[in-house]
Amino acid sequence: MLYDESKPSIEAYLRADRSAVEAIDRALDSCGRTFEEIRSVLDFGCGHGRVLRQLRPRLPRARVDTCDLDGSAARFCAAEFRAKAIVSNADVTRVRLGRYDLIWVGSVFTHLDRVGIDALLRKLGQALEPSGILCFSVHGEFSASNLTHLYGGHYREEAQAIHREFLDHGIAFRPYEGYTTEPGRAYGMTWLARGYVEGRIDELFRGAVVLRRFDPQGWDGHHDVLAAQAVGTRA
Ligand SMILES: C[S@@+](CC[C@H](N)C(=O)[O-])C[C@H]1O[C@@H](n2cnc3c(N)ncnc32)[C@H](O)[C@@H]1O
Repeated sequence: MLYDESKPSIEAYLRADRSAVEAIDRALDSCGRTFEEIRSVLDFGCGHGRVLRQLRPRLPRARVDTCDLDGSAARFCAAEFRAKAIVSNADVTRVRLGRYDLIWVGSVFTHLDRVGIDALLRKLGQALEPSGILCFSVHGEFSASNLTHLYGGHYREEAQAIHREFLDHGIAFRPYEGYTTEPGRAYGMTWLARGYVEGRIDELFRGAVVLRRFDPQGWDGHHDVLAAQAVGTRA
């Protein structure tokens, strides 16, 4: 996430970190909640804590869990940000999570296929405390409509086809080279429209978790940020 140690790279890294915390703040606001009342937090797919670095100071008294497939990343974040590490699994149904007032998922749904998206939404929705908030980023319209030049031009050839799929189906997915394409374990690049995500949340939770906010390009002018909230008792 930090390309090199040059000043522009460090500034970009810190800008993304700050921008995510601002997006989470807006998400909390849309759900009628504030940082002060959040007692338990999960950073799912935490990486090496790009967002936690500035999120943690906003939540000094909260219990924080850091979860990643990469155990050394989860443990690094736990040590650095007074948290507990949870080592994840590519099959998220096998991961043991706690219950949380706030779950942040920065750039993980951006890499999963349909089956993986449903599995992760279900897992995280079930890990919400009553009124808990699931806040996550996706590649949306901005990303899908700028593929001729984003990501080093890697998707230039397929730019139109991917955008068309995104518009027609609300989802487009391209596995990374060398990764499995097995449904639910595939890993690649994913574009998701608001309507698709909202439809999946409605079908998976039948009103127990509802979409409260859609923030186009809400993270650093790039990822859309969505916030869903558990309604009433546990989802
Ligand atoms: C693009 S990185 C984002 C890292 C971090 N959230 C950030 O914004 O800097 C995606 C992260 O998701 C993690 N990840 C992917 N699949 C996962 C899974 N099933 N469980 C937990 N973490 C996963 C990867 O290991 C990686 O650290």
